[in-house]
Amino acid sequence: MKFFVDTAEVDEIAELNDLGMCDGVTTNPSLILKSGRDILEVTKEIAGMVDGPVSAEVVALKAEDMIAEGRKLAKIAENIAVKVPMTWDGLKACGVLAAEGTMVNVTLCFSANQALLAAKVGATFISPFIGRLDDINIDGLDLIDDIRTIYDNYGYDTQILAASIRSVNHAKDCALIGADVMTAPPEVIKKMANHVLTDKGLDAFMKDWAKTGQKIL
Ligand code: E4P
Repeated sequence: MKFFVDTAEVDEIAELNDLGMCDGVTTNPSLILKSGRDILEVTKEIAGMVDGPVSAEVVALKAEDMIAEGRKLAKIAENIAVKVPMTWDGLKACGVLAAEGTMVNVTLCFSANQALLAAKVGATFISPFIGRLDDINIDGLDLIDDIRTIYDNYGYDTQILAASIRSVNHAKDCALIGADVMTAPPEVIKKMANHVLTDKGLDAFMKDWAKTGQKIL
């Protein structure tokens, strides 16, 4: 499974990228706000740091305006994926941008039918939001499962980009279901390394090692 990093903070991206754990980056207007950076400037910097797709989101609501914004964002770098919202206008914009050879990430997906439509207009990525469904007591992982089944039934190339990941269990379950990509905040990716028994075992080894009085270096 590919790991995208869900942030516009360049230091956090750099750390994961150096470890080979950043196959791409996703941003959205809220993450740009949080970074305090100019969208064009920070997107260019991120796109220059990582090899994989960097999603930059349009903010227009009408298809023709989304297309104009998307074309401008796509010019920033070759690895830009233009993010459009999962609306009827967003689907129109996706179709045009995808036909021009631009990677398109259809975001704010909350149903399998939305994902089916996005695949039909040639989206590169569909972003189902797991955490936000969980917030309203709907199991977001069921959506990932449904989209996987539908895409496999018909051989759609659109990649399932599991988004709004809030926990390490979300990450594990997306991998089990077969999401192509997950995008997660850096802290969630780092937490995947943790286990209480690892900490307990390491503590015991360190105590015993101290008793040996030995040194390796
Ligand atoms: C990524 O593309 C999404 O914008 C992001 O995962 C949303 O996450 P949130 O629901 O935690 O804001």
